[in-house]
Amino acid sequence: MRLRKKKWASPLIKEYTGVFVLENAMLEKEIKINQINALEIGAGKGGFIVGMAKKHKNVNFYGIEQNQSAFALCLKKLINEEEQLSNVKIIRSDVNDVIELIKDESIDTIYLNFSDPWPKSRHHKRRLTYPLMLDKYKRILKKEGKIFFKTDNELLFNDSIEYFKEKEWHFINVDYDYQLDKDDVMTEYEEKFRSMGNKIYRLIVSKER
Ligand SMILES: C[S@@+](CC[C@H](N)C(=O)[O-])C[C@H]1O[C@@H](n2cnc3c(N)ncnc32)[C@H](O)[C@@H]1O
Repeated sequence: MRLRKKKWASPLIKEYTGVFVLENAMLEKEIKINQINALEIGAGKGGFIVGMAKKHKNVNFYGIEQNQSAFALCLKKLINEEEQLSNVKIIRSDVNDVIELIKDESIDTIYLNFSDPWPKSRHHKRRLTYPLMLDKYKRILKKEGKIFFKTDNELLFNDSIEYFKEKEWHFINVDYDYQLDKDDVMTEYEEKFRSMGNKIYRLIVSKER
């Protein structure tokens, strides 16, 4: 996804810091272990996180997105919601620069939606499901914590299954033709791929059995 740079992005992000936008350093204090917390990595334009926050008011949603233009569009979505959502916060960062600031065993669910596939072998280590990342997710997930992973990329999906196996995650569901669950929300990429007739793959794993 190539998004044109938006002149209004930076001042808007500044204006909403502390409201919808969290600076990296705020994350550690913000996430309360005794609450239900979900993290979306690579939140893009925010359709998923905003939709999920509306559906699941008892859950605190945290969205991490590194691309400023996508992030700013996500922020706009939050601002334009009729009712102000108090259960969504977004962080503009590469997940690798911020994940260390998240407390051990503080997250209930991690969502990875249509993560970049990085098809070339020399780039596989950049994948958000790469084994090194799975160790980082294990640390921040609560004992019963889960990862939900959706993609239309068969190669990434099959490789990711191998990564999860290698790191001994417990498989809850592997779906090669996923139809949207009623408590799920379609992402912007998902909408595009479904309209093209692509199959959607979905994996649910948990940290412990
Ligand atoms: C293919 S898009 C999917 C966007 C959205 N999840 C969807 O399904 O519509 C992948 C998104 O992940 C973001 N991303 C990729 N690697 C990231 C990283 N290491 N940290 C934070 N965001 C990342 C990209 O900037 C991009 O917006």
